[in-house]
Amino acid sequence: MIHKSEKFWYKLANYCLKNYQGLTQEPRLFLMQKSARFEIVRDWEARLLKRPTKSSEISQEDVSVLGKLDVNAIAATIETDSCYQGLQLPEDVVQELLNFASSTVGYINRDANRPWRCKGTEKVGVDLPENSRVCSYMSNGKQSSTLKKLEKDPGILAIATKFLGAEAVHMGSEISWSFPVAAGSHVQQREVAQVFHYDLDDYRFIKFFFYLTDVDISSGPHAYIRGTHKNKKLLHQVIGTRCADIDDEKIKECYGAENVVNVCGKAGFGFVENPLCFHKGSRPTEKPRLMLQIEYAINDYGNIHEARGY
Ligand SMILES: [Fe+2]
Repeated sequence: MIHKSEKFWYKLANYCLKNYQGLTQEPRLFLMQKSARFEIVRDWEARLLKRPTKSSEISQEDVSVLGKLDVNAIAATIETDSCYQGLQLPEDVVQELLNFASSTVGYINRDANRPWRCKGTEKVGVDLPENSRVCSYMSNGKQSSTLKKLEKDPGILAIATKFLGAEAVHMGSEISWSFPVAAGSHVQQREVAQVFHYDLDDYRFIKFFFYLTDVDISSGPHAYIRGTHKNKKLLHQVIGTRCADIDDEKIKECYGAENVVNVCGKAGFGFVENPLCFHKGSRPTEKPRLMLQIEYAINDYGNIHEARGY
């Protein structure tokens, strides 16, 4: 039987080893992840790192798949509310992405050893392998020409550039399913980002989300806590991404249940978020959800999402 103090020393040694590896292998990324959790550091770094940008206006020749956009108003809304809702993908683009999802191999719970192919997007949820919470197309998403075009869409890039105040660096994209499943443990939910958490991918970064199936309260809507990209409790800044260990109810209590927003919308509906706010993908209770995410940041740290496979 392992003694309590042995457990403590084991954890401490493991923590030190991980920090040493981070510092020696990826020093820029390591220092960002250690320091960007503090708002004051993020503000300083963002100001120092600010580089001259291309105009964030959409020129006459550039046609966005999202139609006409008020880039300034969208960036201002994200700055105050953490998120802007109201983007819309055209039906043909949604259909192309659904076709892609039906014809491409995804991976259950992002495990490269658990390939899975859906038999038509209407039948998803039937005959799923055991313990299937999510299915991500991971790096196979790069095969989608529709997704490649969206990553370079002038409207999406204009919003990202305006919000970041610097040239937008593409960090990664993911198409993934979330399936209806029993609640399970906190650890199981945390592994697939179904508990409140915030991300630390850069000093400033932004994520676009588009639903590819209709999403209501029973199909795992994305949820965020309005305004929590700033003014976090000091403890929540200190522990950073380990906030995901805290019970959702405690986080809600802390920042106000009235500020929790569940984002529902039909297939094609989109929103754009500052992922430094508390957010989660709620667990679907009845219907599955297919969603696309595209992320941009101000710095290029190489493939930061390599571990997640996209
Ligand atoms: Fe997240």
